[in-house]
Order: sequence, then C-alpha cells, then structure tokens
Amino acid sequence: MKKISLTLTTAALTLAAGTVSANCDPGEVVAKFSHVTGGTTHPKVVAANSLAERVNAEMNGKMCVEVYPNSTLFGDSKELEALLLGDVQLLAPSLSKFGSYTEKYGVFDLPFIFKDMDAAIRFTNSDNGKALLTEMDEYAGFVGLGYWMSGMKYFSANKTLNVPSDAEGLKFRVQTSDVAKQMISAMGASPQAMAFSEVYGALQTGVVDGQENTWSNIYTKKFFEVQESVTETNHQLLAYLFMTSSDFLKSLDKDTREQFMQIADEVTQAANLNVKAAEATNRANILKAGGTIIELTPAQRQEWVDTMKPVWKQFEKDIGKDLIDAAAGA
Ligand code: SIN
Repeated sequence: MKKISLTLTTAALTLAAGTVSANCDPGEVVAKFSHVTGGTTHPKVVAANSLAERVNAEMNGKMCVEVYPNSTLFGDSKELEALLLGDVQLLAPSLSKFGSYTEKYGVFDLPFIFKDMDAAIRFTNSDNGKALLTEMDEYAGFVGLGYWMSGMKYFSANKTLNVPSDAEGLKFRVQTSDVAKQMISAMGASPQAMAFSEVYGALQTGVVDGQENTWSNIYTKKFFEVQESVTETNHQLLAYLFMTSSDFLKSLDKDTREQFMQIADEVTQAANLNVKAAEATNRANILKAGGTIIELTPAQRQEWVDTMKPVWKQFEKDIGKDLIDAAAGA
C-alpha cells in the first residue's frame, strides 16, 4: 500500500469522511473492513482507521486493509454472512447482533449489569470474557480478535423521558437482540428491530419515537437532531466483536498472520484506552450542537433500574446464571 493519505482525492474525502482509502499494491493480501458507523470521532471509526494505517505502513508489500464505513459495503444484516462468504475479511459488529449464533452474548445486553465501561472491560479480561471471545469460532468459522468497547447507552425520544413510565406506549428502535426487546417491553413500550443505517430516517419520519445508543452514535448519526432530548440512563453497554474468519486467517502465511495479530491486539488495547475520552467528546459535541441531555436524580435512576432489572431473570436459562453473576460482579 502506498501513501494512504496522499492518494485521497477531495471527492473521496467528501464522500466518505472517516474512511482510510487504500490503493493496495499487486501481490498484497487485501483485507476489507466493513462497518456501519460514521463520522470522524466515533471509537469504531478511529480504531478501524488506526488498524488500516498501521497495517498499511508496517506490512507494506504483504498486506493491506481497506475500510468501508457507514454501511457502504455491507449493512449490519448482511455483514456476518459476507464474512463467511469471503466477501469481507474484518468486521466489528455490536455484540447485540449475534442472537442467531449464540444466546450467551445476551449477557452484554442485560440492563444495568455493568456499572460502567471499566466493569465491562474487567469482565472481558476475565476467564469468562476470554471464553466468550472464542464462543463462535468452532461452529461458525468466525474468529474473535478482541472486544472493542463503544460506550454506555442512553435513551432518546420525541418526548422527555425522566422515568420509565414516560416511555409507555412509545415505539423504540432496538438492535436484533431479544434482551433489548424484553427491556423495552418492560417499560410498557414497543420494540422495533431495525438496521442501524435506517434509524435516522425512522426517527425523522416518526416510524419510531425513540432509540437507545451511545453518545458517539447519537452524535455522529445526528439522532439528537430529530429527537426532543436524550436521557442519561447509562442503562446498557454497547461493545463490538472485532473479528475475522478462520478461512482468512488460515490463508495468511505464518509471519503475515503473526504480524497482523500483533497489530490487531495493540489496536484493540489502544481503542479501549481511548473510548471514554471519545464518548465524553461526543457528549460535549451534542450539547455544543444544541442537543438536550437530561440528567437523572438518584430516585429517577432507581426507577429505571427497578423496571428493567427483572429482565435478567427471563434470560437466566439461556445465558446461564453463573455467567450473569460473573458479569454483575466484575
Ligand atoms: C454500531 O455502533 O455498530 C451500531 C449500533 C446500533 O446498531 O445501534
């Protein structure tokens, strides 16, 4: 790969802000990295671009990473299938989108299971977390390379949400997660699963009344512009499985594979170190851009916890009580 940034034209920059465009050289192994997020300050955008920049500089002549953000190559309903078909080699989907492969990842979706991202990182570094990283390797041909944290989640809606009963009767977009669906039902609201790329339009046209996401997604996808306010519920984690396929890894010679895995690991560590700062920046960006953020009193927050926590019990059999206890105690 030659001179990444110098090869970008103005048009390419305009079309794909946050993209690392690469002109891969003949003979280089090309790894396409498809993801759904956008902007320049989003933790996944920053991590994917950093991976590409490092591989393209340090493995020049051997391997080259091309990043396709904003669902421009595959949306989140197609990307896992595309990885197995070899149409893409690197992904970082939300852990909430693996329901048709494993029920165990539901543990990451349980409301209020992690106090904050530090607790989630402690869990992913534990034996249970490490075992979950390879959960799908055997039977699906996927290889988990690392967890990338994205942030805690917050509800936004076309009306003010102070307590869960304010959400009664509203329709909320959720990811394809059974836990998320039950959580919304527990609030007396209706869940509607929908691809990430469709959320802005659905909020704007009133197909749904609200959604739940991180500061980075709410800012970079401009959800706050078509919502009355965002409530700082901090109710759930959003994290990604940075992944590839076993076919792709096997296709690399030993040296190339080892060098790539080393870079992948270092990028993962750096991404998780930087994520809290990125989230704080995007929270501030929302306020700067005129968005409204509602902070909860301790009593209001307790109402959200009391309403949503019973959902844990409904998934105890699928996820496993031991795993839930381990995550809650992290
Ligand atoms: C993502 O951050 O990758 C998308 C999350 C979502 O679908 O809400």
